[in-house]
Amino acid sequence: MKQILRGKDIIPASGKLGVLIPGIGAVTTTLLAGVFAARKGLARPLGSVTQTGKIRLGKRDNLQMVPINEFVPLTELNDIVFGGWDIFSDSAYQAATKANVLKPEHIEIVKKDLESVKPMAAVFNKNYVKNLEGNHIKKGKNKMDLAEQLMRDIDTFKKENGVDRLIMCWAGSTEAYIQTSKVHYSLEKFEEGLKNDDPSIPPSQIYAYAALKKNIPYINGAPHLTVDCPALMELAEKNRVSVCGKDFKTGQTLMKSIIAPGLNARLLGVSGWFSTNILGNRDGEVLDDPESFKSKEVSKLGVLDTILKPEVYPELYKDLYHKIRINYYPPRGDNKESWDNIDIFGWMDYPMQIKVNFLCRDSILAAPVMLDLILFTDLAQRAGMYGILEWLSFYFKSPMTKEGLYPENDLFVQRSKMENTLRYLMNAEPIHHTGLDYYYDMEEK
Ligand SMILES: NC(=O)c1ccc[n+]([C@@H]2O[C@H](COP(=O)([O-])OP(=O)(O)OC[C@H]3O[C@@H](n4cnc5c(N)ncnc54)[C@H](O)[C@@H]3O)[C@@H](O)[C@H]2O)c1
Repeated sequence: MKQILRGKDIIPASGKLGVLIPGIGAVTTTLLAGVFAARKGLARPLGSVTQTGKIRLGKRDNLQMVPINEFVPLTELNDIVFGGWDIFSDSAYQAATKANVLKPEHIEIVKKDLESVKPMAAVFNKNYVKNLEGNHIKKGKNKMDLAEQLMRDIDTFKKENGVDRLIMCWAGSTEAYIQTSKVHYSLEKFEEGLKNDDPSIPPSQIYAYAALKKNIPYINGAPHLTVDCPALMELAEKNRVSVCGKDFKTGQTLMKSIIAPGLNARLLGVSGWFSTNILGNRDGEVLDDPESFKSKEVSKLGVLDTILKPEVYPELYKDLYHKIRINYYPPRGDNKESWDNIDIFGWMDYPMQIKVNFLCRDSILAAPVMLDLILFTDLAQRAGMYGILEWLSFYFKSPMTKEGLYPENDLFVQRSKMENTLRYLMNAEPIHHTGLDYYYDMEEK
């Protein structure tokens, strides 16, 4: 069995943490600008559990709400060094300006810091992301050669920046939908596939392979498979590395995982849930290609089933019609708008409707998710929690789980799972919310 290090045994977050990101686009530059501004006290890192969240400890007659970053040993924002790869050579400053998420005045205050992040040449192949054309791309004799080039980039970054630990987080474009095939069944087959340029291995898996070979935890912010396959899990287990994914939970799916648990808790039936979106950023353009959209659709569709559980409540959810549409609409940029029409029914089958119109900002919602994932994954690695970090499913649309387990998508269960994991790590009592001990003698007889 795996041993988790707890309390004082957790390796301290001393020294610098290097964060390597494939994809220096809208989400990444919004994260970077926010972290740089927060370090200078010029912006508040809101929406981030690690920066602003509190955890309840102890019983309600002695209520303690402790800041999470004082309760668990996390890396400080000042100790993070960012780097990464992109198919464009723009610095993070230029990329942030083009992404047009933040106002110029919020980019200018951290211009120097953003300019210092210059992407390394990417591993890219247009077959996996059709609507993207770049020129800052590595050449190699085969996919194994490209993986080795990435490993050399990692070594150079580590040396030049004097970092002690590393994390890799994918924030690159969503790749075309690929199912697991023979090449993904074992590490041996996967390594053969890298040497033979197997078409079932997309660039994201080459990055993940390079990271895991170097004992670096890997976070997948996009919906494509990457580490969610036996071959790369075998490598993660062998090298004792943490992994988590898939697809940052933001926007419409966040709303679904907030609303659906409530309907289910009150046993209200759902006959239809129609979700449509317009967005005009580069992510939207990439998702305009049906193959990339397919990856996103699969990731978004699973959420309702696992929350509502039609197999447990067929009378309420068996005929649920769930449809998702994403439309690329350039005028809206990163300010996505989503509409949900939810047809529900209750007492004596009387129908009702709910309409949700969320005018969100995609990258503003994604940046704190990415920051928390980086800091918690680093914590997990220092606590010896290698393999899938299911306790971080709070942050994902399509959480990875061990084979045979269903993913938990209910945001409130996910939050409670995450908090109890943090309590476990710090030798604190889990909180089960029964409250019965205030009214009854709960001593075992
Ligand atoms: N914004 C959100 O709310 C949100 C939510 C969930 C998931 N995501 C996912 O996060 C990812 C990033 O989103 P974004 O809005 O920043 O997109 P973006 O298009 O602004 O940025 C993606 C960047 O990745 C680069 N890229 C593509 N392939 C690459 C490769 N092989 N190697 C290195 N760089 C590569 C692109 O050139 C681009 O700069 C997407 O996959 C998106 O689906 C975003």
